[in-house]
Amino acid sequence: GAQPIPPPLTDTSAKLVNDRAHPWRPLLPGQQRGPCPGLNTLASHGYLPRSGVATPAQLINAVQEGFNMGWGVAVLVTYAAFLMDGNQLTNLMSIGIKSLLTGPPPPAPAIVGGLSTHGTFEGDASMTRGDAFFGDNHSFNETLFQQIVDISNKVGGGKYNLSAAADARFLRIQQSIATNPTFVFSNPRFATAYVEAIFPLAFFVDGRSTEQALDLKVMRGFFQDSRMPRDFFRRNGTFDFGTAGEGVQFLMNAHPFFPGFNDGAVDNFVPDPDFLGNDTEILCALYHKFVNITVELYPNPRGALRTALNKNLDNFFVPVQAEGNCLQSHPFP
Ligand code: HEM
Ligand code: MG
Repeated sequence: GAQPIPPPLTDTSAKLVNDRAHPWRPLLPGQQRGPCPGLNTLASHGYLPRSGVATPAQLINAVQEGFNMGWGVAVLVTYAAFLMDGNQLTNLMSIGIKSLLTGPPPPAPAIVGGLSTHGTFEGDASMTRGDAFFGDNHSFNETLFQQIVDISNKVGGGKYNLSAAADARFLRIQQSIATNPTFVFSNPRFATAYVEAIFPLAFFVDGRSTEQALDLKVMRGFFQDSRMPRDFFRRNGTFDFGTAGEGVQFLMNAHPFFPGFNDGAVDNFVPDPDFLGNDTEILCALYHKFVNITVELYPNPRGALRTALNKNLDNFFVPVQAEGNCLQSHPFP
């Protein structure tokens, strides 16, 4: 059955995390990496199983221990992803493409496709991965990384800083509008895309530095090789919802942009004024959207599957309830 949520860290200070117990190792045949450089790196350093297949508890523990992601943020993103992309019966999820290692899946329309499944958590206009429309939404893309390098040289003094993040985020949106007729950038992708542009600054800058800027070689190491620099310290103190919100606000102020989608053709971006649905808070809208996607995958779950889904949905709501003024959904009473 579903697992209980692991606790927050007691010590959230900066410390060496590229340590003797967590050496980087190259990929072996059968091991999966995917669209998330954070989880890829945790797997390649053994904070997650090196196979790239993990339980929700392993994910929550690893992102806290390895990168000091705050408990609430960790629980929220883990269960959002796990409900849509994981195997509710075995508690296993691939951080890459669909994997046999996650065990016998529940019946269709459930996908259990791992984090690379387009239209669940994974979405368009990623900074270093292409849009699913072009065929590969999970591999490191050198051309896209070079754009980040160029932008960082132009506005970041040779490093990825908040100004570079703002420009990189905006450029990728413009590119998807101009080239991807199926481009979707509404709830939930609008929110996750902006937060993910902050993540390199939040998590990949050494915890002993007070600089809000990331060396591009270090950045490439994480994004391309899933590798921490030698002697890497995790951030000092947790990264929580408040800090995430401030970063996102900076990016949006730099380039105001409204959620929407290309309506069947390139250069045909239409705003989606209903992107919040019946909610007023973005967090609640995100929560309800992820629950709705889950319900589409599980129209009529029975038995152990229903029990597991309900437990994981309850776990998903814990950080949402703590942070926002949101109503819980009970899709499987
Ligand atoms: C992107 C999942 C934690 C850094 C993504 C994506 C997924 C994902 C599905 C792909 C979205 C897309 O670009 O289409 C998760 C989950 C996490 C988690 C489930 C926690 C359990 C982290 C952590 C870090 C991180 C701890 C940093 C240390 C990033 C970055 C991207 C990303 C920078 C954007 C990649 C790009 O745009 O090229 N994550 N992530 N994530 N994630 Fe994570
Ligand atoms: Mg993507």
